Amino acid sequence: MENNHFFDLNYLKEMRVELTRFMMAYKFACDEINTKINILSDEFNYIHDYNPIEHVKSRIKSPESIFKKVQRKGYDFSLASIRENIRDIAGVRITCSFISDIYVLSEMLQNQGDIKVVEVKDYIKTPKPNGYQSLHMIVEIPIFMSDRTENTYVEIQIRTIAMDFWASLEHKIYYKYNKEIPGGLANELRNAALVAAELDRKMEWLHKEVSVIKEENSEDTGLAFLENGDIPAFLLKALSEYQKRIGHE
Ligand code: GTP
Ligand code: MG
Repeated sequence: MENNHFFDLNYLKEMRVELTRFMMAYKFACDEINTKINILSDEFNYIHDYNPIEHVKSRIKSPESIFKKVQRKGYDFSLASIRENIRDIAGVRITCSFISDIYVLSEMLQNQGDIKVVEVKDYIKTPKPNGYQSLHMIVEIPIFMSDRTENTYVEIQIRTIAMDFWASLEHKIYYKYNKEIPGGLANELRNAALVAAELDRKMEWLHKEVSVIKEENSEDTGLAFLENGDIPAFLLKALSEYQKRIGHE
């Protein structure tokens, strides 16, 4: 018994530290992506007078779910294998108003220098057989820590409100029926997904119509907030602090 790892306190302590470090990288990765999205969102609000981002949710997969997935997929249980194979430990879901926003946003993220796109799955162009729609990306971002840099995978899902509405209901039904949705219900769900997609197309059309009318009615300088007279408070504050610093008060 003396030689068994599991009764060795030092071994357990080391394990705990290693696991904490492992999970921490994913928390930081979520923070990084959230910051990137917040910046895009603020910029849109101030400059374009319109924000394509409705809401953002992020989550870290629980160690228990990670364990189950490793088992289900038959991967090796080492941390190195988990890091390489389980690419949705950090997950960020962005809900947009319109389908075109999804592609605009995904391009913006993909063009950022520190984001490496590993995989894109477009379930909008090609919905899943059950009707599921969303744009999925697996990206890799560097996380800079005190003594090392860790390239970390993040799964980003981008969808419209209608797609999100459908997916959350489908998810509930899926688990309610223990992953075996009865045929009739599955058909109705597929139908609902088509209706949701139709709604998305109609809303997009309306949105474009209104944008054209808005453009015709205004001489857009591209700086909506200056016209409105409401320069964001944080910019005013930063400017006045800067002026103080350089003695131009
Ligand atoms: P996983 O083994 O679950 O990671 O699947 P995958 O590797 O085939 O990845 P995929 O990109 O297809 O799906 C990943 C995630 O998208 C899931 O964890 C869900 O959050 C979401 N998703 C995919 N398919 C469905 C679906 O049919 N219904 C719902 N509600 N969500 C889905
Ligand atoms: Mg998954």
